[in-house]
Amino acid sequence: MDATLSRVWDQTHGKVVRSGAMPRRTPPARAGIALAELPERYALPAAILRLALTPRRWEPWNSFNEHRAYPSPRAAWLVDVTVVEGHRRWLADPVRDRLAGRTDAPAGSGAAVTLELTVHPERLPAGYAALAEVLTWLEAGHVAAALADSAEAYGWTATADLDDDSELTVTLRPGHLTGADAARSRLAARRSSGLGPRGLSADPGRLPEGTLATLAQAAFRQPAGSPAAWPGLRHRAVAARIAGLADGLYTLDGGTTRLVDADATMEAVQQAFSYPRDKLDVAGMNVGWVISADVPAAVREGGLAAYRRLLLAAGAIGQHVGAAAAAAGLFCRPARSVHEAHLEAAVAAPAAEDFLYLLLIGRSRPRDFAYDLTPPEVLT
Ligand SMILES: Cc1cc2nc3c(=O)[nH]c(=O)nc-3n(C[C@H](O)[C@H](O)[C@H](O)COP(=O)(O)O)c2cc1C
Repeated sequence: MDATLSRVWDQTHGKVVRSGAMPRRTPPARAGIALAELPERYALPAAILRLALTPRRWEPWNSFNEHRAYPSPRAAWLVDVTVVEGHRRWLADPVRDRLAGRTDAPAGSGAAVTLELTVHPERLPAGYAALAEVLTWLEAGHVAAALADSAEAYGWTATADLDDDSELTVTLRPGHLTGADAARSRLAARRSSGLGPRGLSADPGRLPEGTLATLAQAAFRQPAGSPAAWPGLRHRAVAARIAGLADGLYTLDGGTTRLVDADATMEAVQQAFSYPRDKLDVAGMNVGWVISADVPAAVREGGLAAYRRLLLAAGAIGQHVGAAAAAAGLFCRPARSVHEAHLEAAVAAPAAEDFLYLLLIGRSRPRDFAYDLTPPEVLT
């Protein structure tokens, strides 16, 4: 055990190793109500939950399953979504398609539905230690962004809010149908962090012209209410082998791509990555998108909640970029397993900025390695 923990420590700088047994995972309570049996006035909120949360795929070769519209570190699902009405609470159980915990249905006034997102870093193995918190808030950003996309697909909005006590809520409200078709096609695309049965590497061919611009525009054209619009993030990407685009380092802020260093390469991103190249061939990816922020300044002004807001925003951007990548037939692997100072240097981030999130994008080599679990409403 000690040897394993010290290996984890060697490979991942900055972690405080927490020893001891993992807490037992409590299975969801059996009592509950099927989403399909909710009263008519709850049909749309139920559909929004199902579109955002339901499992989509099972990959028999992958040690991490299942796969949903949003990613999760090790598919450990670190964020629970609970429907709240006054003192009554129902835990959304996306695998069993139910609201668990109570047998009565929420009343659902038709005006607004409050969802509480609770974070569970303890579901990651002990070796993740303090990093587990960071990963959990990033995943929560993905979930809030997937709910925003899903709400837009049904003409509703899903507005995320983090209060100063770090209570994260998403409020669903009826809205307008503008953007519904685009949101639906984003959610129907087959999102993936990359198929890597023997280590992940990208197809070595060029990506089509305009790929980086499409991804950058998707990151900054968010559905209403997504934390991706929250301020403070900086975006840079190393790009390689995209038709019509010079290889090099780009700034992407506001969705505009601007070449700032034609000599920057994916090799430097590989060297900042913690896994060896035969496990994850970072140097062969087409885009290494790095999100950073002036964390000390944000925390001085807004305390711990300000750091969590930055992580939520970064996770939400990761969700929108991942969905746009899926629509373009590409994978998008979100990652934190990097030597942060090396990666900050690889993208010439100013000293005040800290690394928050890396998105590695390319086209998968293998295809169709999965059982398709897509719920019918995603296909229609
Ligand atoms: C916050 C976050 C951090 C992640 N960090 C890593 C990482 O450091 N290395 C890696 O290979 N994958 C990482 N992943 C990808 C997950 O392992 C992946 O999402 C999971 O295996 C499910 O696969 P899927 O996204 O294809 O559904 C991360 C995902 C999230 C959401």
